Amino acid sequence: MAVRYRKEIDTISPYVPGKPIADVKRELGLDHVIKLASNENPFGFSSSVKDAVMKAMCEVNLYPDGNATLLKAKIAAKYGVTPDMVLPTCGSDEMVDLIAKTFIDPGSEVVMAEVTFPRYFSTSKMMGAELKIVPMKNMAFDIEGFKQAITPETRLVWLCNPNNPTGSFFTRRELVDLLEHISPETLVVYDEAYYEFATHPEYPKDSLDFLQKYENLLIMKTLSKAYGIAGLRIGFTIGAAGLLGLINRIRNPFNVTLITQAAAMAALDDDEFLLKVIENNHAGKNYLYEEFEQMGIEYVKTEANHIAFNAGKDGNTVFQDLLQEGVIIRPIGVENYRTWLRVSIGTMDENREFIRALRKVLK
Ligand SMILES: Cc1ncc(COP(=O)(O)O)c(C=O)c1O
Repeated sequence: MAVRYRKEIDTISPYVPGKPIADVKRELGLDHVIKLASNENPFGFSSSVKDAVMKAMCEVNLYPDGNATLLKAKIAAKYGVTPDMVLPTCGSDEMVDLIAKTFIDPGSEVVMAEVTFPRYFSTSKMMGAELKIVPMKNMAFDIEGFKQAITPETRLVWLCNPNNPTGSFFTRRELVDLLEHISPETLVVYDEAYYEFATHPEYPKDSLDFLQKYENLLIMKTLSKAYGIAGLRIGFTIGAAGLLGLINRIRNPFNVTLITQAAAMAALDDDEFLLKVIENNHAGKNYLYEEFEQMGIEYVKTEANHIAFNAGKDGNTVFQDLLQEGVIIRPIGVENYRTWLRVSIGTMDENREFIRALRKVLK
């Protein structure tokens, strides 16, 4: 007799993280491997983070502040909101999970895009949601398609802007149009994991201002990308205190470690580092655009730190062939997009290495 478990588990595949460098080196006997697979920050992190971590190390006999009081205050001041409108989590991954647990009942209608961050799908499925998947339009969100899919019954809408893995974005006007269309009883989760990289003039840089009018909106942010501290696991969500209060009831009491809280405080202060990252990302993306164009490869213009491209042949095969060349990227792995892959923008040396390897495997 087998142990019984929730039937929803059968509908979920485990999350496949980017392949670690050490695994590829070992498996393929390679000395030099680069990883452009997880949208990590190739430029490291603020030097002030290291000092903060070393200092916090001396206190790890203590539990962290379960309320993350100082960090909340710092975030609130930075973004012009009150501390009760901020909830830090162990990466925004944890928040995706907590949101699903808090707001989705079995049978709840949940709307999301066809090619987007996969954890929206698995966490919604876990809670027994009825998912409505909106097909992509030219590899970007189809806002009209979202409007058609969303009904007054919709419990939750997952939005990601700029989107992972396509790097595409939707405009401020489209966001307003969508928010106006959605019932105030429907939760809108707006994931800004790649916000800092977006420079397009029509990208909604002022999204936080919408919180006043749309109290059904939660805005998720992370320090894993532009701030470069993915390994410390810290994200935070900004939104109505009432919504965050519900989520807070099921949060693990000490979900953000003492070291991470200190590191995040330091990272958030270093605007100079952030600026450098954004400039380097811009240069990298322009280089990759030029190379893709020279090679005649279809790609999506990106507002994030990764680029989706169509290799014109099976993405898994291209992924495997690139591994042999010591370059780890990622197939998009969604039905209808089997020839598409995503590459994270790296340092210039890494970008060049990737292009060299790609030219070889596509020859
Ligand atoms: C769109 C999006 N949201 C959330 C996350 C999770 O980020 P983290 O848990 O590292 O904060 C990622 C990570 O890749 C992402 O791409």
